[in-house]
Amino acid sequence: MRDYREFLSEILIPEDQLQARVAELGAEISRDFPAGEPLLLLCILRGGVVFLTDLMRHINVPHMIEFMAVSSYGVGHFQSTGSVRITLDLKTDIQNAHVILVEDIIDSGHTIASVLELLSTRKPRSLSVCSLLDKASRREVFVPIRYTGFSIPNKFVFGYGLDVDDYYRNLPFIGVVDLDRYTGGGD
Ligand code: IMP
Ligand code: MG
Repeated sequence: MRDYREFLSEILIPEDQLQARVAELGAEISRDFPAGEPLLLLCILRGGVVFLTDLMRHINVPHMIEFMAVSSYGVGHFQSTGSVRITLDLKTDIQNAHVILVEDIIDSGHTIASVLELLSTRKPRSLSVCSLLDKASRREVFVPIRYTGFSIPNKFVFGYGLDVDDYYRNLPFIGVVDLDRYTGGGD
């Protein structure tokens, strides 16, 4: 695998800004949900996992975590297809729980819109969306986002959970992919 510096065009959000904003979101969620009612952070694998593990450590009301996986992209594609498949469903009964969907990024909106539609049939006490990144200019379907980390321009980004062809999720910042350099040379 190539060194990410070969195709990094810029660091869009450095680590300290990410960490500061995640702490704010955690504090906001802690204020919004009563400690006596069941709260479930539902992370969409795999992109949301780094965000979730940082976010949950800034939430000081009792809560559970769960995971589900959906796929909307194939390796090598930089556009959402609009068709979303659930590849791993959650095991917890969400009836009566306040559910917060934790996502890495909302792009066209198709992924999260499908997940919201499915989960609402299971009658949670409330259902809201927390997304680290919002690429609003790309939206094709409306998605109600209650908590947004950062609104970003229409660029393909990676790091802090987000991948380029499944790699580079470990990077502590959000970087922009130079698509010419990524798809061009190298192997
Ligand atoms: P949507 O269905 O178009 O909203 O796509 C959402 C999913 O596409 C996210 O959960 C990401 O996995 C992926 N995605 C969208 N934009 C990017 C990006 O800039 N970098 C990495 N993954 C992305
Ligand atoms: Mg992805």
